[in-house]
Amino acid sequence: MSDLVIHDAAELVVGKGEGKPLERYENAAIAVAEGKIVAAGPTDEVTREYPAENATEAINATGKTVLPGFVDPHTHALFAGDRSDEFEAKLRGKTYQEILAAGGGILKSVRSVRKASDETLVSNLLGHLDRMLANGTTTVEVKSGYGLDTETELRMLAAIREADEQHPVDVIPTFMGAHAVPQGMDADDYTQAVIDEQLPAVAEQGIAEFNDVFCEEGVFSVEQSRRILEAGMEHGLTPKVHAEELAHIGGTKLAAETGATSADHLLHSTEDDISALVEAGVIPVLLPGTAFGLGAEFADAEMMLDHGAPVAIATDFNPNCHSHSMGFAQSLACVEMRMTPAQALVAATEHAALALDRQHLGRLDVGAPADLVVVDAPNHVHVPYQYGTNLVETVVKNGERVFG
Ligand code: NIG
Ligand code: FE
Repeated sequence: MSDLVIHDAAELVVGKGEGKPLERYENAAIAVAEGKIVAAGPTDEVTREYPAENATEAINATGKTVLPGFVDPHTHALFAGDRSDEFEAKLRGKTYQEILAAGGGILKSVRSVRKASDETLVSNLLGHLDRMLANGTTTVEVKSGYGLDTETELRMLAAIREADEQHPVDVIPTFMGAHAVPQGMDADDYTQAVIDEQLPAVAEQGIAEFNDVFCEEGVFSVEQSRRILEAGMEHGLTPKVHAEELAHIGGTKLAAETGATSADHLLHSTEDDISALVEAGVIPVLLPGTAFGLGAEFADAEMMLDHGAPVAIATDFNPNCHSHSMGFAQSLACVEMRMTPAQALVAATEHAALALDRQHLGRLDVGAPADLVVVDAPNHVHVPYQYGTNLVETVVKNGERVFG
């Protein structure tokens, strides 16, 4: 007896294959009981043990594909206000740094978030989670970092927790007090404020798992970033690093040295940096939507894959990169970073889960949580191939049909 059987799928991808790109089946089925996968494989084998007619719910997936739910390991999905004017300014040639230096960018979002009520923050995030779910995301990381003072950073993290409780998508909270230097402060004084005031308050409330810094030219130096990450570790928060997005200053090596769970962006990382990441077991998270929006060169995924790095991808959904879609991220990973559709899928599922320290997610093995998507296409290649089209028809989270 099972709660859900999805049968006769044209393709079912379990996850990364051993000695082959993917572990996958054709004419396949998957059975779910008590939120977990109890069988996955050829339809005749699965339905012999778990007949569709005995299941509480059965989905005939003829002509369709079953994939692990997408895991989006890097977003700034909680914000308020609107920055579409900056999209236009960037199209006319303004750079991200010029906008930030003029008090726009992150600093504009900070002003909006400080003014927003708690209810607005929660409802804004819930709206974005709805869109992400409709695009096949079942787990997402969301960062604070548009408060830049203790009170607002805590309000953001509380809103993230509230939205997580209300929404079927699992939300993993990251504290990012070191997202920008607030206006009127210098970077050293603000670094000290993050360490002395924000981190202890966040740790006391137990509302964040990771501690992220924007280690970037003109934002936080490697030394300032190191102090923030080390202070976070003393409070039990695991490091993550925004590294080498706009310039090469050493953030990738910092991630390796501090044992970060992931190093993200990596547009300017060198081979030497990537060797250090691989050796330290840090997951590289690439954000092709950001490079696309900035008109920047994409990260060198091929070089990273050649080094055996478990490359992950994320949307980086934020007001500067307004995409909820892990499908679009996979299209960009293929077209712009020359990843294969199989590599892009693994990057958006299994490796993305590793970037959040969720080893049990991102694969459809027996015993794993039943987080999966049914896409209206005959195989996984169509997800990146049909760029700009959302093929997700049904989403199942912990065995429950939560979309479609
Ligand atoms: O990952 N680079 C820093 N943080 C975000 C952008 C946030 C924003 O512009 O609001 C990023 O791209
Ligand atoms: Fe980011």
